[in-house]
Amino acid sequence: MVVFNKPYMTGKELEYISDAHSIGKLSGNGKYTQRCQRWLADQTTADKVLLTHSCTAALEMASILADLQVGDEVIMPSYTFVSTANAVVLRNAIPVFVDIRPDTLNIDETRIEAAITPRTRAICVVHYAGVSCEMDTIMAIATQYNLLVIEDAAQGFMSTYKGRALGGIGHFAAMSFHETKNVISGEGGALFVKDASYSNLAEIIWEKGTDRSQFIRGEVDKYTWQHVGSSFLPSELIAAFLWAQLEVGEQITNNRLESWDVYHNAFAALEADERLRRPIIPAECQHNAHMYYMLLPTNEIRDHVMANLKQLEINAIFHYIPLHSSPAGRRYTRVSGSMSNTDSLSSRLLRLPLWNTMPESTRSKVIEAVHNVMAQY
Ligand SMILES: Cc1ncc(COP(=O)(O)O)c(C=O)c1O
Repeated sequence: MVVFNKPYMTGKELEYISDAHSIGKLSGNGKYTQRCQRWLADQTTADKVLLTHSCTAALEMASILADLQVGDEVIMPSYTFVSTANAVVLRNAIPVFVDIRPDTLNIDETRIEAAITPRTRAICVVHYAGVSCEMDTIMAIATQYNLLVIEDAAQGFMSTYKGRALGGIGHFAAMSFHETKNVISGEGGALFVKDASYSNLAEIIWEKGTDRSQFIRGEVDKYTWQHVGSSFLPSELIAAFLWAQLEVGEQITNNRLESWDVYHNAFAALEADERLRRPIIPAECQHNAHMYYMLLPTNEIRDHVMANLKQLEINAIFHYIPLHSSPAGRRYTRVSGSMSNTDSLSSRLLRLPLWNTMPESTRSKVIEAVHNVMAQY
C-alpha cells in the first residue's frame, strides 16, 4: 500500500533529545525551545514566536490575545480544520464563514467586507495547502475596519507571499508541527506575534497567565497571576525533536517541491483534456508543497477515483468537510452569503500521497494508477 504520509526523521532527533536529557532541564522554555523560537522568528520576521503543543493551542492563544468577548465575530472560511473555528467558540465568540476562491481554495477576500458587522473583531485566514491568501487586500480591509488578522498557517511552513513569509504577515499566526506537516515534532505548533505590542501578553498567556518568563529574565523580582492563560508550552524534549527538523527545513521543502512538480507535470495532459483540475499557485505565492490535490469534475467521480485508487493500493484521501455543514457548525457559527464554492470544491477534491524522500518508484506508481483510473472518465 502507498501510504498517504510518512513522517520524516532527520536522524538527529534522538541526539538532541539525549542532549536535552543530559542538560536536565526537561520542562519548557530551555535551550531547544529558545533555538526553535529564534529560528522561526528570523524566518518569518515575527516579533515573538512561542512554541505550543499544537497549532490548535496556538489558535486558542490567539483568541485570548485578541480579547474575544461573548458574541464577538471572527470572519473565516468554512473550508478549514475544526480548530480554526473551535478556538473562537471556546471564547463564546462566533465564527462567521465566507466562501472560498475557486482557484486557491483560500478565503475569498472580495466577500469579506459584506460579512463585517459592528461585532466583527478579527479575520482568520487559512493558507490552504501552504498557498497564501491575498494578504495585501485582507490587511487593507483589516486596517480600514480596525480588525485583527490571524493567520492559520498550520500548513504554511516556509511559504511566502510577495517574498514575505507566512506567519509573519497578520497580527498573529499559528503553525502546526503535527506529524502530517512538512516539519514535525509528533504533535506541536507555534504562535507567531507580529505586532510587538502584544508580545509580553502572549508570553503571559503561554506561561499559565503569569509573568514567569519576565521573572526568569530578571525583569521582575517575583512572578504572579497576571491574565487568563494556560499551560501552552511544550517540554524541551519536543523542542529538541523539532530543532532537528528546523535545521533542515529548507531541504525538506525542496524535496517536497520536487515531488510536487513531478505530479504536476504528470497530470498536465489530463487537465488539458478537462478531466481534472490541478492546483493553481498565484504568481505572488511561493508554496511549500505541503499537499498535492486534484479537483475532479463531480463528487461521484471523486469518490470512484478514490475507491479505485485504494484497490490499486494507493491511499488518496479527501479533505475538510465544510464546517458550516457540521453539527457543531450549525450550533455555534453563522454563514455570510453563498457557500457554493466551498460545497462544490470540497466534494470534488482528492489529495495524493506526498512526503519528503518519497521514492521516484512510488511517485511513478501513483501517477500510473491515476492515469489508469482516469481512463474510465
Ligand atoms: C488549517 C488547519 N488549522 C489547524 C490545524 C490543527 O493543527 P494541530 O494538529 O497542530 O493542532 C490543522 C491540522 O491539520 C489545519 O489543517
